[in-house]
Amino acid sequence: MGTILTVSGPAGGTGKTTMAVNLAAALALYEKKVLVVDCDPRKNATTWIRQTSPTHDRHLSSILKNTAEPADVIEQTGLLWMDLVPAGFDLFYAAQSLARDVSHQTRLKQVVQQHFTADYDYIIIDSPASFGYLSMLALTAGDWVVVPLWPGRTSETDCQNLMKLIQFIRKTHHIRLRIAGFIFNGCASAKDIQVFLKNKHLTWLADLVFETFIPEDPAVARSIGHHRPVVLEDINAPAGKAFLQFAMEIDSIFNGQGRCPETPATEKKSSWEMREIKERGSGKVEQLAASIANMINEINQSEEAQ
Ligand SMILES: Nc1ncnc2c1ncn2[C@@H]1O[C@H](COP(=O)(O)OP(=O)(O)O)[C@@H](O)[C@H]1O
Ligand SMILES: [Mg+2]
Repeated sequence: MGTILTVSGPAGGTGKTTMAVNLAAALALYEKKVLVVDCDPRKNATTWIRQTSPTHDRHLSSILKNTAEPADVIEQTGLLWMDLVPAGFDLFYAAQSLARDVSHQTRLKQVVQQHFTADYDYIIIDSPASFGYLSMLALTAGDWVVVPLWPGRTSETDCQNLMKLIQFIRKTHHIRLRIAGFIFNGCASAKDIQVFLKNKHLTWLADLVFETFIPEDPAVARSIGHHRPVVLEDINAPAGKAFLQFAMEIDSIFNGQGRCPETPATEKKSSWEMREIKERGSGKVEQLAASIANMINEINQSEEAQ
């Protein structure tokens, strides 16, 4: 079975899409079969990866609404080993109707597990920011979460809230969603990371930080303009090299075969992280759970009123 990695985080602009697209492409260069699932109605991953206009109008929402066979929605990309399930803005509407029933929060998980995990080593889901329904759908679908942090764009509260959200999803759906790690983006050195963690009072997550960090690199913007991942834009660019290294690090965690191992290297970190959540006041989890439930109710009521 392939490993499902959701790239998520509560703050916008930290590099979730950049990470999803380029980690996937780098894994594909290592001949891992990868599927990118774009779960953001802004469809930035789709626009970045697609090289030609599609000949059909099928998206992730078509799968979620059961109006298309999953296999008919998958698109090939410029990389032989990387495929795409594209997003469209209609994902937003699909999410509104799924939000009526809490059991639908696992709809993406069911789809990915039933239709994609057998054919791919990695399924990488690009999640929107915030605590909205689609980011819950994306997180609930993952085995593991990869969290990009950008110093200056990420706060301590962002990190704490993400932990609470993950805890809420685990409890609500009885699933073993775990944090694979935090990947620093837009960073010049390992020293910068240490300084950031210290200044932001985030040293409690230091053990969960990936060794690789991604530097700020103009090749990223160029590669978006050329509709290809940065490893194809310029494999020798600092970001290109970093993504190759990140793919190796990810693949070594998942047993060098792109498979989720029985006792992963991050297991130790994972139980440590759970202890930290408890110590840092898990009572607030209930508060957050209640506010999310309220938010979903509000969406439902406004839907019914229309
Ligand atoms: N390592 C990087 N170097 C330079 N620009 C980057 C880098 N990572 C992300 N960006 C830019 O930052 C912006 C936000 O990145 P994006 O991946 O879209 O964030 P998110 O998906 O979290 O909202 C984009 O314009 C992207 O091109
Ligand atoms: Mg994005």
